[in-house]
Amino acid sequence: MCGIIGYCGSKPGVPIVIEALQCLEYRGYDSAGIASLCDGRLLIKKDAGKVGEVIEKHDLISLPGSIVMGHTRWATHGAVTQLNAHPHSDCRNRIAVVHNGIIENSAQLREELAGAGHVFRSETDTEVIAHLLEDEAGNGRSLEQAVLSIAPRLEGSYAFLAASLDDPGKIVGTRRDNPLIVGVDAPDYYISSDALAFSRYTNRVMNLEDNDVVVLAAGAIEFLDKQGNRLSRQVRQLDQVWSESSKGNYQHFMLKEIMEEAQVFDQAADQDGRLFTEIALDILRARQVIITACGTSRYAALVGRYLFSKVGKKFCDVVMASEFGYFADSVDKNTVVVTVSQSGETADVVDGVKAARAADARVISIINRPNSILADLSHHVIHLNCGPEVAVPATKSFLSQLAIFYLLSFSMVNDFDGATARLSALNTAIAGVLDSNKSELITLSHELKDRNDFYYIARGINFAIASEGALKLKEVSYIHAEGMPAGELKHGTLALVEQGTPVVVICPADYTFAETLSNAIEAKSRGAFIIGVSDRESNVYDSWISIPEVDELLYPMIAVVPLHLLAYYLAISRGYDPDRPRNLAKSVTVK
Ligand code: AGP
Ligand code: GLU
Repeated sequence: MCGIIGYCGSKPGVPIVIEALQCLEYRGYDSAGIASLCDGRLLIKKDAGKVGEVIEKHDLISLPGSIVMGHTRWATHGAVTQLNAHPHSDCRNRIAVVHNGIIENSAQLREELAGAGHVFRSETDTEVIAHLLEDEAGNGRSLEQAVLSIAPRLEGSYAFLAASLDDPGKIVGTRRDNPLIVGVDAPDYYISSDALAFSRYTNRVMNLEDNDVVVLAAGAIEFLDKQGNRLSRQVRQLDQVWSESSKGNYQHFMLKEIMEEAQVFDQAADQDGRLFTEIALDILRARQVIITACGTSRYAALVGRYLFSKVGKKFCDVVMASEFGYFADSVDKNTVVVTVSQSGETADVVDGVKAARAADARVISIINRPNSILADLSHHVIHLNCGPEVAVPATKSFLSQLAIFYLLSFSMVNDFDGATARLSALNTAIAGVLDSNKSELITLSHELKDRNDFYYIARGINFAIASEGALKLKEVSYIHAEGMPAGELKHGTLALVEQGTPVVVICPADYTFAETLSNAIEAKSRGAFIIGVSDRESNVYDSWISIPEVDELLYPMIAVVPLHLLAYYLAISRGYDPDRPRNLAKSVTVK
């Protein structure tokens, strides 16, 4: 993960970089830091803590300089400490590096470098880059030559920026499997993990391909291939750049985004019907269809799988993206791979797609963020259109993903228009669910805030909603939770249910109702506190979260809404910040 930003130009660079770091914080918020080249000095300030805390504690805004790099970290190698925060530098403090990714052979490189006398200050994999550059730079060699010569020695994935006092006036960047994009507004140049970081200044960008090296100086930019030959790369205009959204009157982005769940369907359904028909035909004709995704997006895929089967009569499998590579042997040109990713840059998903493309499969991606790596790798892209999702826990994007699967499955039976209309009608139903259950959910969150374990059960198309409810609870409230098919509870997990254990039962009055309720009764007989999410009241429920009656294929979209809200209120009752849960980041760009 991590967000990196560099600025070279005519303006004071530090305020630009600070602002960029605040936009990039969704990528990691363990630590932050800045390096500035100014009047023959390399100034580095960094610390553990959220961007705002580090800015304040170290008065970052007071740093001078117009060649500046910044970093917001999600630690992979080395604890969350000031020393491990980026930028990292070489032995002489003349080169600074910010990095996103993992250098897989860092242990071996570190040993070699330490053997040759280099002194390491951090435990990170990143620091080897600074020391390798130290060996290569100087003696008349430019910083870009140094970057070109060390790149082949680095294994793993990376996007990094370097600046040096021995070759001042420039920032050099390169990437492999991690994002890096240049913003152009001559004589000012920006380079970052995400165009959002500089979108206030320019939407004219240049993409770096894997192994490209780019040299930014005030008023000049140069792209080199891995042999050091000049490359010509086109400037293009971003069709869509999100601006940082605000919390409005809400205390947290998570709550704001849950409230927006009542508005996502019109945007999600605003699609090109012909494209959906084309994709639906691709899916129906394929020998096999695999949906691959991680986390919440994978739960949307699991609902999609039921929809494809129920509506389109097309069986497909869902493979966790981090496991996809292990099935790549059976992927071929008659396979359609559907990926689902809010960010469009989750490394596990990107990796899977690369494997799928190498096997000649057709790739269709369902993405929210515009201009993502995944979009570039796919044959077709479907946009969720739900706007920026800032809180780390995915909420409204999940609803949009469910809507897309609904549209795709009905496109298989030539009913795109009907599906669009049915989705639109859901907006009011969801607004009602949010409104009518709020006080019951707040009360529950106070009553249950000290419980250690929650179980979520459901059947059929609703099963993945149980898993999503449990994931959301874990992420933001740090309470252990498990979601599972209701019929599976008695096969082991029931042993953990004791007096007062909360069991959330997603029990709409559809084809799963009777059997799910029986499973709830089994848990209640062992003392469970049953929270029923249903449109039909029952004396089995100790607490009833009421949802309206809808068509049975639409229940997942309705039932998940109170579960998101329950997770939110439990996080608040326990005193946590749901927007920035510990140990997590919004874009998971490492494997
Ligand atoms: C969701 O609340 C999580 N933050 C996480 O599971 C997320 O869904 C997962 O990392 C996948 O992200 P993506 O949709 O951006 O690929
Ligand atoms: N591996 C580096 C570190 O731990 C960068 C981490 C990242 O990109 O997530 O500091």
